Amino acid sequence: MSTVLVIKAHPATENVANSVVIGERFVEAYRKDHPQDQIIEHDLYAEGVPEINSSNLDSWTKLTNGTTYQDLSENEQILLSRQQKLQDQFILADKYVFVSPMYNLFIPNRLKMYLDLVIVSTKTWVEGEHGPEGTLHNKKALHIQSSGGTYHHTDNEFMAKLDLGDSYLKALLGQVGIKDYQGIYCEGNSHRDPEDMAANREIVAKQAGKIAKTF
Ligand SMILES: Cc1cc2nc3c(=O)[nH]c(=O)nc-3n(C[C@H](O)[C@H](O)[C@H](O)COP(=O)(O)O)c2cc1C
Repeated sequence: MSTVLVIKAHPATENVANSVVIGERFVEAYRKDHPQDQIIEHDLYAEGVPEINSSNLDSWTKLTNGTTYQDLSENEQILLSRQQKLQDQFILADKYVFVSPMYNLFIPNRLKMYLDLVIVSTKTWVEGEHGPEGTLHNKKALHIQSSGGTYHHTDNEFMAKLDLGDSYLKALLGQVGIKDYQGIYCEGNSHRDPEDMAANREIVAKQAGKIAKTF
């Protein structure tokens, strides 16, 4: 049995979001094809993500300098235990599905905040002789992303270099050892009328359903 962690980072609640619809279709197909697997879903905008703040930094310093967890304040303990829970869940998962829109060529800020909590030195990577060495092996990741422009399904070399969020996610996960990475991209939405957008979303959702079989 594998554990799949689905991390949705889209602020939309009412409007149809292409990435969210495609993500849901992927999960639906995955559940059908892998009934034995456990799927854990996070909605980062609905749940919120604990931000790294000065209290957090202070408590890390205190722990490094020998303070025990019990001697931290109640607030520090609450923050750390929530962070710990997210980290443990991330480390134990076998497969990751990130669902997000592109915002200013990058991933949405809540997804970055989540990654800052779960990708941590000594747990997901260690300092090796030649730089960081990942500790997470035999895992795979999928990024389902929707964007106004077209960055992947194009011969335009300039545009192809601009999907910084997806490149960053791939590089960061690669650094912690998750090298099996693929993307599903629902692109060009700024230039589509509602009908065309719905038709393209359906094509990409079908593609997601196929990928779910072998993911
Ligand atoms: C704040 C903001 C920034 C955006 N920045 C970009 C961008 O840099 N490049 C791009 O192609 N689309 C950009 N878009 C457009 C969205 O990526 C596009 O509408 C996408 O389809 C949204 O995802 P969804 O369809 O899942 O809602 C931006 C949209 C918003 C709201």
